[in-house]
Amino acid sequence: MTTTITPLIAGNWKMNGMRASLDELTTLAGIMTTGDAPRAVVVICPPATILAAVARQGASSGILAGGQDCHPSAAGPHTGDIAAGMLADAGAQYVIVGHSERRAAYGESDDLVRAKAEAAMGAGLKPIICVGETEAERDAGNAEAVVASQLAGSVPEAAGQHDVVVAYEPVWAIGTGRTPSNDEIAQMHGAIRRLLVDRFGERGATVQILYGGSLKPQNAREILALDNVNGGLVGGASLLAKDFATIISAV
Ligand code: 13P
Repeated sequence: MTTTITPLIAGNWKMNGMRASLDELTTLAGIMTTGDAPRAVVVICPPATILAAVARQGASSGILAGGQDCHPSAAGPHTGDIAAGMLADAGAQYVIVGHSERRAAYGESDDLVRAKAEAAMGAGLKPIICVGETEAERDAGNAEAVVASQLAGSVPEAAGQHDVVVAYEPVWAIGTGRTPSNDEIAQMHGAIRRLLVDRFGERGATVQILYGGSLKPQNAREILALDNVNGGLVGGASLLAKDFATIISAV
């Protein structure tokens, strides 16, 4: 199958970033607009408080904005939550759903993640649907089975008609400086690709599958070159423009 997939590099700022962090975005824009144009779509998912500012400021340099989570409902009595339509209204084009930090801290189930992804698509956003095994699950030899079941439960049927992104983030690699071996990453991404193609046919062949978990300037080049790795979801290393730009240019 010879399908070209545009790579995507997304920065997940998590609960980091004040208005002053927009300076980092200015630096990133400066780097991105000098020299060769990036070969990847670049997205920053900042805290919601500065999402609109990131979307506004990123527009001139081609940096897109995304949310970090959304509520499955369009509106209503959900104190503290944010609807997908609100993210779109603030200028977002993407939203992360089912990040392992939310699955772990808030007990988010596959059903809830799927409902959030559906809400995102309904609001015109591209959901970045996260899956990934814990260390215990990998040690027990269950990594692929866990990821397969998360995919089956979290990716909506409507992904057959809409743009979605899948991010494979092994929980034990997030923020730890550890990563799976290149072979393990390629094997998991290959398995995810087969499952997407089995379920969605040609459409599944073009879904971007991102790797996330301690992706850094030092390992980006080799990881991003692996089969079926169509980009990255970057945490810590997305907070510094220089590091994030190095990862973008590694594509
Ligand atoms: P780190 O890159 O800091 O390991 O985080 C990865 C992640 O969770 C991105 O969503």
